Amino acid sequence: MIKFNGLFHKGLEDLARQDRLRVCRSLQRIGVGRVLCQQTGRELVDFSSSDYLGLCTHPLLLERAVICAQMDGSGSGASRVVTGLTVHMRNLEQRVAALTAMPDARIFPSGWQANASLLPALGRLSIQQTGEKATIFADKLIHASLYHGCAAAGLRPIRFRHGDVAHLATLLAQCKSSGLRIVLTESVFSMEGDQSDIVALRAITQQYNALLCVDEAHAIGVFGENGFGLSLGFADIIVGTFSKALGSMGAFIASSKSACEWLDNTASGAVFSTALSPLLIGAIDAALDLLPNMVQARNQVEVLSKRLRKHMWNGGVDIGSSTTHIIPILVGKECKAMSLARVIEELGFLVVAIRPPTVPPDRCRLRVAICAYHTIEQVDALAHALLHAIGNDEKHGC
Ligand SMILES: Cc1ncc(COP(=O)(O)O)c(C=O)c1O
Repeated sequence: MIKFNGLFHKGLEDLARQDRLRVCRSLQRIGVGRVLCQQTGRELVDFSSSDYLGLCTHPLLLERAVICAQMDGSGSGASRVVTGLTVHMRNLEQRVAALTAMPDARIFPSGWQANASLLPALGRLSIQQTGEKATIFADKLIHASLYHGCAAAGLRPIRFRHGDVAHLATLLAQCKSSGLRIVLTESVFSMEGDQSDIVALRAITQQYNALLCVDEAHAIGVFGENGFGLSLGFADIIVGTFSKALGSMGAFIASSKSACEWLDNTASGAVFSTALSPLLIGAIDAALDLLPNMVQARNQVEVLSKRLRKHMWNGGVDIGSSTTHIIPILVGKECKAMSLARVIEELGFLVVAIRPPTVPPDRCRLRVAICAYHTIEQVDALAHALLHAIGNDEKHGC
């Protein structure tokens, strides 16, 4: 018997009582945007994936992954600072630097690792060079990995109201520390589907001599010149993932050459973790080849997202401030979100319920993610199902 098993069991029971228990289900991909749930045997249209451009099944990515692995192996064998940095990976970093209009970039095994290691690296720089701790100003709704980075740095972020640049300015004006000031935000928010005002953030961070760090995880591929995000030319540090619209895994941090070299020395997620597999380097390289010409796919995402938002507005459904392909169906309590997700699934759609700690307790939701492979018919059918299920209150009452 494993020690403390009773405690684990009780912990799970407590989560279940609060409707916060997460149960991971195994899904089998049975076509583009379609999955088979092994537990229920149900075929579902997937509206929860972040594979926004449908690249994760693209033949060019698969082919390039194999070619790259045939040259460099299936694993990189060591961290980037030991022997894990292949010529292909370095070329990819330089490619990412050019695409983000930054002098250099570093590749990380995941977006979580990039964010979780960035803040301690910046915190250390502040102490070393100014003798004072860094002060972090964070949009309230930044991703958990950024919060994790703050905690790992031993820094408690000062949170500004979501998207409220004036509030940020007030907080910056009150800051007396001579340590590094760092502003953290996302360009497209992962759970709200709204966008930061990057231009205004740039102006404020210039005014108060703060570093602007933007997580572009959900914008890369979908927004910006050649699909490379919304903060080009505005941010001091850009974090982006390859795991969402680029259809594979891994992430990058792009900034100045010195900033990147500082990361080589201090970012634990790169120093103490094996570098990204050559398979993924190949797949990412192929995705970057395809990206500039995916205008039609980006348009499709935009058209379908507008269509679903309009359906929801017309039906009086609360989708918050979403302006993008991420459309939250805000329902309130955990049990409402769980029950709505179940009903929607019975109608043939996979839209996962999002609950605390990902979102606040009163803002549970179904998070719809529109991808380029969805069709108008599927979006209309989903809208119909959502309106029907939401209207049918007693069926998903708590
Ligand atoms: C805004 C944001 N940043 C970072 C990450 C982490 O990226 P990855 O999945 O590559 O670890 C996510 C993933 O959900 C995210 O939504």
